[in-house]
Amino acid sequence: MLKYNLDNHFDALLDNEHPIELFEPMAYALSSGGKRLRPQLVLMACNMFNGTLNNAIPAMNAIEVFHNFTLIHDDIMDQADVRRNQPTVHKQFDYPTAILSGDAMMIKSFQYLYQLPQEVWHLALPLFTTTAMEICKGQQYDKNFETKKHISIDEYIEMIRLKTAVLLATSLKLGAIAASAPEEYTNTLYEIGINIGLAFQIQDDYLDLYGDPLTFGKKIGGDIACGKKTFLYVLANTQAKQYEKEIINAYYHNKNIILSERIENIKQLYNRLNIPQTYQQWLTKYVNKAIELLNTLPVVDNEKKQPLQDLINKLKDRNR
Ligand code: IPE
Ligand code: IPE
Ligand code: MG
Ligand code: MG
Ligand code: MG
Repeated sequence: MLKYNLDNHFDALLDNEHPIELFEPMAYALSSGGKRLRPQLVLMACNMFNGTLNNAIPAMNAIEVFHNFTLIHDDIMDQADVRRNQPTVHKQFDYPTAILSGDAMMIKSFQYLYQLPQEVWHLALPLFTTTAMEICKGQQYDKNFETKKHISIDEYIEMIRLKTAVLLATSLKLGAIAASAPEEYTNTLYEIGINIGLAFQIQDDYLDLYGDPLTFGKKIGGDIACGKKTFLYVLANTQAKQYEKEIINAYYHNKNIILSERIENIKQLYNRLNIPQTYQQWLTKYVNKAIELLNTLPVVDNEKKQPLQDLINKLKDRNR
């Protein structure tokens, strides 16, 4: 496995350009202790096809900087005050700063992308730009759903495929592209990434209600506060009786009731409907699908699949 200290790398990546008012918030976002999941995926895929660290670095930089850009703007859209146990960028600085430094990070991510060798641009650029546009579409569906009561499981899954899964899928595919892997293999890696990404987002929704705030690093109940149609909500609406649906919706959307009470009552109803157990089955389904696809991947050196297999298996138990 390519050994590399990702935290040191990203903590130092965006240092000291001017004006400081633009670049300090960018460095603040990038060095505030994310899990570095996406660059790990880039590295693992690159290594699977015997790519070097130098092959992987532009892809890792493009993806992780882009990811952190999406979080800065997502926190404005979701009115979130805390991320990674720190004030979000618009809280630490202000809204104009968060908007502009987010924009600048998005542009930076493209500058990193074209540090990949020119021979792979015809694969890397369409992949990255399509993914960037899909994330915007997913974020718009996420916003649209806030004011919609009936969301089917399929509609929800498509929304999270777009807002979250495609970037994890692109991390794996771009890592493989950076190592000049054969196209059919890069497509399988993309599918593995989609399944990891779906698992990852339904878990994020679960932790938003059931997580420990200090470990998770975000405020608990933030999704309920803005009427987000989470996986828990969507599952509950397929299983609840009519009167239970009405109770959930009343607590979900009635902002005259204090938030802590709304959160507590919704949680109790989810518990009664066994939503945590049903969610767990879906999580297992996506994780198993990712592992199954990984098993079909004909990599020359089978041992090189191990780090990705370990990562997928560990993901099941994540609490941050
Ligand atoms: C947060 O992503 C956004 C989601 C897709 C749920 P991460 O949980 O990977 O964020 P960091 O970078 O580790 O903080
Ligand atoms: C994140 O969804 C998706 C993107 C940032 C594109 P969330 O809004 O659930 O992510 P968190 O919970 O704020 O990290
Ligand atoms: Mg969001
Ligand atoms: Mg959010
Ligand atoms: Mg969330």
